[in-house]
Amino acid sequence: TTHKITLVPGDGIGPEVTAATVSILEAAAKITGSSFDWHTFDAGADAFAKTGEYIPKALYESIEANKVALKGPVTTPIGGGFSSINVTLRKKFDLYSNFRPVKSLPGIKTNYPNIDLIIFRENTEDLYAGLEVMINPDIAQSLKIITRKGSTRIARSAFEYAKKHGRKKVHAIHKANIMKLSDGLFLKCCKEVAEEYPEITYAEHIVDNTCMQLVMNPYQYDVILTENLYGDILSDLCSGLIGGLGLVPGANLGADCAIFEAVHGSAPDIAGQDKANPTALLQSAILMLHHLDETAAANLVQGALETVYAEGKSLTRDIGGTSGTKAFSEAVIAAMGAK
Ligand code: NAI
Ligand code: MG
Repeated sequence: TTHKITLVPGDGIGPEVTAATVSILEAAAKITGSSFDWHTFDAGADAFAKTGEYIPKALYESIEANKVALKGPVTTPIGGGFSSINVTLRKKFDLYSNFRPVKSLPGIKTNYPNIDLIIFRENTEDLYAGLEVMINPDIAQSLKIITRKGSTRIARSAFEYAKKHGRKKVHAIHKANIMKLSDGLFLKCCKEVAEEYPEITYAEHIVDNTCMQLVMNPYQYDVILTENLYGDILSDLCSGLIGGLGLVPGANLGADCAIFEAVHGSAPDIAGQDKANPTALLQSAILMLHHLDETAAANLVQGALETVYAEGKSLTRDIGGTSGTKAFSEAVIAAMGAK
């Protein structure tokens, strides 16, 4: 089968990690007999320069038609400028579930071997709803929106995943001691959903304590279920447990569409230097292959990736190697051929 996929290379390291990922997927497809039809679009400042729109209408239409997108990071200006492309796309397509598996790869030296935890981050509301106003030049106000609908459906995603994949525990992460109404509602919804899954242990941890617990003993967590802002922060923290942002993939899932993207941003500090680790986007692409029922291709790429890590000769600098983005992706392609 030929899969039509919307591709957003993004900016910063985006084009480099996207090119690496696409080259690996193309090589895998050749072996497994599937193929991809990539529909490529700019977004953000690059798109604005070319089309006068931050998210071109044609990009929206492409995602609507294809239902699946693979996306690199897009730089979001701090302060003024335009609002986040990511937040906008997640809201537009109601991609309410941000699924982020944090799993150790072989051959990386960290203080935490064999990490295997999943983050379910609510992806459409909370303080990221974008409802901010200046009350006057000296007072800014940002509204935190938590709804029963939003909280219940992310909780259901987490528990359904846990049930299907034999996960034992779900922790709801919150700050309901301070935000009694908003986080209180989130917790209430999580608890109600939890009651429908008696075989899965349910617990609640406050977010600041969770940060400490994750650093002291991350193994106590299995599935983390949380709101948008806490999920954003905890994702980067958890990436640090396994070797950094170069590794952790993500999927933005809704009822109708899915956008696959890494947890990391555009990494301007290393952009354009062939230094970026494409593993995070590549693992996002593996999630996409599973979503497309391309199990053979997914397993082929996963196996090759693990081989390259276990051998440890072609790793990127962020995890202590000396290879560039391109050399790493060539090693993954070579490892597929060798099988
Ligand atoms: P970042 O995630 O881009 O970078 C943080 C640190 O991790 C940097 O030192 C960077 O070099 C390193 N890093 C990140 N990805 C890496 C990779 N694949 N390989 C090796 N090292 C990697 O976060 P930062 O610098 O705070 O944000 C930069 C820009 O990205 C901002 O404009 C932000 O808004 C945007 N951003 C976009 C996202 C998206 O499009 N999904 C997500 C997060 C941030
Ligand atoms: Mg983030």
